Amino acid sequence: AQTAETPQWRPAYHFTPKKNWTNDPNGLIFLDGQYQLYYQHNPFENKWGHMSWGHATTTDFVHWKHLPVAIPEIVTKDTTTWIYSGSAVLDKDNTSGFGKNGKPPVVAIFTADQPTQHKESQFIAYSNDGGMSYTQYAKNPVIDLNKRDFRDPNVWWHEGTKQWIMTVAMVDEHMVRIYGSKNLKEWTKLSDFGPAGYAKNGWECPFMVPLAVDGDKSKIKWMLSVSSGGDHGPLMQYFVGDFDGTTFKSDNPTGTVFSIDNGDTFYAGIPWRVEGKSTLLGWLQNGHPETSPWKGQMSIPRDLSLRTTADGVRLFQQPSSVIQNSLNKLSKSHAEISKKTIGDDLKLPQAGSSNSYWIEAEFSLNDAKQAGFKIAQSADGQKTITVGYDVTKQQLFIDCSSAEKDNKSKENLIQTTELKITGGTVKLQLLVDRSSVELFGNNGEKVISTMIYPDVTATGVSAFGAGAKITRLKVWDMGK
Ligand code: FRU
Repeated sequence: AQTAETPQWRPAYHFTPKKNWTNDPNGLIFLDGQYQLYYQHNPFENKWGHMSWGHATTTDFVHWKHLPVAIPEIVTKDTTTWIYSGSAVLDKDNTSGFGKNGKPPVVAIFTADQPTQHKESQFIAYSNDGGMSYTQYAKNPVIDLNKRDFRDPNVWWHEGTKQWIMTVAMVDEHMVRIYGSKNLKEWTKLSDFGPAGYAKNGWECPFMVPLAVDGDKSKIKWMLSVSSGGDHGPLMQYFVGDFDGTTFKSDNPTGTVFSIDNGDTFYAGIPWRVEGKSTLLGWLQNGHPETSPWKGQMSIPRDLSLRTTADGVRLFQQPSSVIQNSLNKLSKSHAEISKKTIGDDLKLPQAGSSNSYWIEAEFSLNDAKQAGFKIAQSADGQKTITVGYDVTKQQLFIDCSSAEKDNKSKENLIQTTELKITGGTVKLQLLVDRSSVELFGNNGEKVISTMIYPDVTATGVSAFGAGAKITRLKVWDMGK
């Protein structure tokens, strides 16, 4: 049966396909002044299947141009090949020889999944029209280990060793295999990383980026990320360490697991690498209820950095500066509140009336036990979602227990993560977009993302935390 359309859950400032299914972001690359997004897509149905690379571009991360499917599934008389996750690079120096008329090619490197053969191998395809359409390389596969589960190549140019580097998942071995290549066609195994950290479930979608510690470009550390199922849903764990052009060595203390996002939805993220900056985009997984005529959406893109905390060097994430710097332009209206002590819950009509807004706030906690926001409040006051900081528990939290009982497993109704604060203040960035909530604590030291499914009329928002003081709060109405 056709699911009724659900416009109340269609995000206003996050990416969704116009219609039909998406999961992982693919190929993230910046070309000709535009951020290119390819994505796992079923062009025919609103469920997983017929995997192909959908395509969209943006300059501001909010307005997306939807383009035709860039790499469709390959169906022949005896084989079906699905285009699974992977990446794309601009081959500036035409190392692959796929360039035409002096114009460098764009090369996509992805997993060819052949469901009837129970096989995954790595393919490449090239584009001579700026990433709009691709031709499959005649001698595919470029890496074939005759395996069932071997996927998600992420490729970038490593200036130090003048070669392309690939990280790819040895799914069942819980390993990341690292390959090198001079021409994107012939690949040499360099090393393996793992198993390490959380290795209970299959590893997918690895990637590695160099990040300056505390903004100091002479102190580079590498961050390696791996997606897998965690104990309560998706987990993207990360390792901080060193990469010498061959081997990744993790500094993570044994037995610890660092997660990029502490909610139940953020998964399969990979970065744009633009002028030395790494901007992570993830898929926000949703189970039920169904949405229609699309299913699946992307997170807000997040700029990555490493900072020294009391516990060691950790990943920090901030909503992309491309959006942050133009919020006033991108929103319908905005407002600011400062130096206000909270008594009764403080209504925020400035957030608009469509559950699509962006709030940045700093609270002086004083003797409040908790402070934050009550969002998606139903008109009758029966349902709300509470997000904020718990002073006693030293936790950032999203509490969906009054509103999402039918949609989340019991252990995911309240999602929390430890966050230590100093000086009695906490900074919250809260991005609500109809069906998604992304909460950044203390400049993105910790993040929790989750999906919500409020009624169309459940749009009330207020700040709470009797006794706490809002030192500064800005709210942007992002509704269309
Ligand atoms: C992750 C994933 C990848 C795979 C793709 C298939 O969500 O399972 O490992 O390439 O989705 O759609």
